[in-house]
Amino acid sequence: MAASPRGFVLRHTHLRPVPGLEEIRLQLADEVLPLWHAVQVETGDPDGALPYWAFAWAGGLAIGRYLREHPDAVAGRRVFDLASGSGLCAIASMHAGAIEATGVDIDPFAAAAIQLNARANGYRVTAVRRDVLDEEPPDADLILAGDCWYEAGLALRVLPWLRRARDRGIDVLVGDPGRRHLPTDELVELATYDVRTTTELEDLERKQAWVYALRPGGPDSRGWHPVRSGSRGVGR
Ligand SMILES: C[S@@+](CC[C@H](N)C(=O)[O-])C[C@H]1O[C@@H](n2cnc3c(N)ncnc32)[C@H](O)[C@@H]1O
Repeated sequence: MAASPRGFVLRHTHLRPVPGLEEIRLQLADEVLPLWHAVQVETGDPDGALPYWAFAWAGGLAIGRYLREHPDAVAGRRVFDLASGSGLCAIASMHAGAIEATGVDIDPFAAAAIQLNARANGYRVTAVRRDVLDEEPPDADLILAGDCWYEAGLALRVLPWLRRARDRGIDVLVGDPGRRHLPTDELVELATYDVRTTTELEDLERKQAWVYALRPGGPDSRGWHPVRSGSRGVGR
């Protein structure tokens, strides 16, 4: 493992505004392959994970846009950002008025990036480096799951965990650009956005990305409503 994940993140990224969410700045990279190679060298692990944390993914960008348009979804609430990567969704939630945010990711570089990025935006976000998917759902009001459906193994574990959270009355927002493993039949579509990403990650510079809710399970949950502009979906 790197001597200092924080130093590694700083050396290999630049702090810059997020396309389409310019009020938020993140430590971002331009190219994925050289950075991935650097991760493998730094960790001595030829199977080292892709540096997801150095990019704002389409699913997270959609959640960020949704929270900017709908601060009521998050204001005054405790937010848990699952698979946080750069911390984008956690930071967007603080920007929209959350009272606290936690970003969780299995990647130690992500944990460093979340803290660096939160601080750069003037917020405190708790970064947790752990796999929580075999644990009980967190003590939170809202879980954000940005771009978690890109891989079958993760998708299989995320959905039951989110269902358990929902059944305890925790609201869940999912952001996704239509990845293969997305369980659309369990989701209520709230909004769609044209997001700017990069061909380093995707087939196109711009992608359509959606925000969905899992149906709330408890009497205290706030209702989710479709947005007027850009929405193709229905409320519950
Ligand atoms: C495509 S990135 C999305 C990052 C961020 N949510 C966004 O939208 O920009 C997926 C993230 O999931 C993380 N991840 C993978 N398996 C995980 C697990 N079991 N628990 C938490 N995070 C996980 C990866 O390390 C990666 O940072």
